[in-house]
Amino acid sequence: MDIDKFIQVGTEAARGAGLLIRERFNTDFAVTHKGAINLVTEVDLAAEEFIVSRIRKDFPKHSILAEEGHSRAPRDSISWIIDPLDGTTNFAHGYPVFSVSIGLEIDGEVVWGVVFDPMRNELYTARRGNGSFCDDVPLCVSKVETLSASLLATGFPYDIRTSKQNNLDNFCAFALRSHGVRRSGSAALDLCNVAAGRLDGFWELKLNPWDCAAGYLMVREAGGIVTNFHGQPGSIYEREVIASNGLIHSEMINVLTNDDLRLTI
Ligand code: IPD
Ligand code: CA
Ligand code: CA
Repeated sequence: MDIDKFIQVGTEAARGAGLLIRERFNTDFAVTHKGAINLVTEVDLAAEEFIVSRIRKDFPKHSILAEEGHSRAPRDSISWIIDPLDGTTNFAHGYPVFSVSIGLEIDGEVVWGVVFDPMRNELYTARRGNGSFCDDVPLCVSKVETLSASLLATGFPYDIRTSKQNNLDNFCAFALRSHGVRRSGSAALDLCNVAAGRLDGFWELKLNPWDCAAGYLMVREAGGIVTNFHGQPGSIYEREVIASNGLIHSEMINVLTNDDLRLTI
């Protein structure tokens, strides 16, 4: 198994898709709705087509799980998990914060991931057991020790208008107990920013595997922790997550599991 070749192809795919996305930014592209506020643009589809073709060219038997519909069954033990454009709402509105995210899963474990930020031209990579990097500079999580001194990020699910589990209660609780809570619109970039020590913690619910396949590995390889709301190891197939520098993790679990804390608004 030639992991170095996988990495080369995955990196080319992420960079190429990012450049395609950047060229189409603020141009006239078609936007359609997958749900009331869940948008998809023709650029999402073109980026996914680019990535999938690049991977299939060298690895026609590998399985693919990609947000906009590409998948191959039956599943191979080697699987590419792809978000061709993470931050579609931003992209559709001309807000320059979005990324391409690709995770490589072998025998059920994500072993490599890449997140490319085309507007800042930053390439984040992580390899299991080998650290996380931004353009070859090693990443390390922050040393902030308390929730009250932390900077956090989160996101909101597309059913925010209709579901009670819409994260607004958690948002209020953390906003009152931290230096601030950011909502970038790209979960993959949020996770890279935790890995880079620019954010101390991140939580979200109702994520999909393509949002986080690369990002969870990025945080872990930078020395951080990724769990569900109850402190068990986070899986990309589970929908809730806390990713942090480790030091504020138990305080975050406490907020997310304690109704009394979340209701004091
Ligand atoms: C979304 C972004 C956003 C997060 C949503 C995701 P998309 O992905 O990552 O930050 O809050 O949960 O669905 O739809 O832009 O690929
Ligand atoms: Ca996404
Ligand atoms: Ca997407």
